[in-house]
Amino acid sequence: MADVPESIVVTEEPIELPVAELLTGRGFITGKSGSGKSNTASVIAEELLEIGLPMLIVDTDGEYYGLQERYEILHATTDEQGDMEVGPDDAERLAGLALDGNVPIILDISTYVDPSEGTELITRVLREIFRMEDARRKPFFLLVEEIHEYLPEQGAHGKLGELLIQIAKRGRKRGLGLCGISQRPAAVDKDFITQCDWLVWHRLTWKNDTNVVRQLLGADAAKDIQDLDNGEAFLMTDWNDSIERVHFRRKRTLDAGATPDIEAVAGGPSESLESDVLDAIAIEDMEVEPSSTAQADPKSRQIQRLQHRISELESELERARQEPQPEVHIEPSHNGEVSQLAKGLTELGSLAAHTARSIYGRARLTAVGLRRRFAANDQSQ
Ligand SMILES: Nc1ncnc2c1ncn2[C@@H]1O[C@H](COP(=O)(O)OP(=O)(O)OP(=O)(O)O)[C@@H](O)[C@H]1O
Ligand SMILES: [Mg+2]
Repeated sequence: MADVPESIVVTEEPIELPVAELLTGRGFITGKSGSGKSNTASVIAEELLEIGLPMLIVDTDGEYYGLQERYEILHATTDEQGDMEVGPDDAERLAGLALDGNVPIILDISTYVDPSEGTELITRVLREIFRMEDARRKPFFLLVEEIHEYLPEQGAHGKLGELLIQIAKRGRKRGLGLCGISQRPAAVDKDFITQCDWLVWHRLTWKNDTNVVRQLLGADAAKDIQDLDNGEAFLMTDWNDSIERVHFRRKRTLDAGATPDIEAVAGGPSESLESDVLDAIAIEDMEVEPSSTAQADPKSRQIQRLQHRISELESELERARQEPQPEVHIEPSHNGEVSQLAKGLTELGSLAAHTARSIYGRARLTAVGLRRRFAANDQSQ
């Protein structure tokens, strides 16, 4: 580990976070929905991946696959959408890949409809990692979204909760770090929160949650936390006595969990969105030379159909651009209604842009995956 830097910086303020503490300690990232938790977890993951450190991300909402844009990280899914389809029986294989193969993994359970299936899969995989780490003692980072589901403040912990407590208490000696993420600090087992070595507090507004902030960070923070911007947070660490107000940077890779951005679509299509869409249409990665083997493959035909459809859409877009805009006369008495309608349309446009970005992200990753498979097929011919 000679080349591993001692610290990383993920905030606009150049605050150094010690890599060893992050990798093998216990962390907690909290804040209300949309406050920036997953972004913060992602920027930490990006920096650790940049250094080549191993990790497993338990992804409940299918929002971390964007990391594949830049990093070699396995997207394990419970259907055929990812790089590898997995179920509880693959736990040992996944743990082996992670610890012996040094393969960073996103364990994406978002496609399970029944939450108990997801819990079973996570339990089996984490148990296997914890067991193997007893002998291996490799620094390894675990990131778990929605940790209140498994470590609730009220009620008994299930098997996964007990395992997470065990990892939190005994993981460090085995090299195993754990970072839990939750929207509701009041709903998370306080034994876990108070044992954490580093905590990130994004915006919180519910009284029960701000009460937790009052107890742990003080009255001023409990008041100020309600007005934090997205990505802003109070950072509390064992290695620094003071509580700092910081701005986390945005993730470099695709934000698959992005909140629809209303301002980006207000007043017509923005430059960046337009180029995003054009990029999506270009999809360079999909320019697969169809070999005779590939011709016969249904996936290849599907790609060709998509490319054809993309050309059609490009032409339609060009035609739409050249069409003159109709002149609209609005009676002053209808101004209120028109403004409401415009607001509704803007929100709809924003939602459509969000969906398009998300589909674009998936399409690009599928295209990259298909290209790899074609290359492998061609080589084996
Ligand atoms: N550091 C940041 N700087 C600027 N904007 C940010 C930052 N972090 C997040 N955002 C904005 O907030 C949105 C929501 O962020 P994120 O998905 O991380 O929220 P979250 O807290 O994980 O929400 P949820 O609980 O619903 O999963 C992002 O799509 C982005 O638009
Ligand atoms: Mg999130």
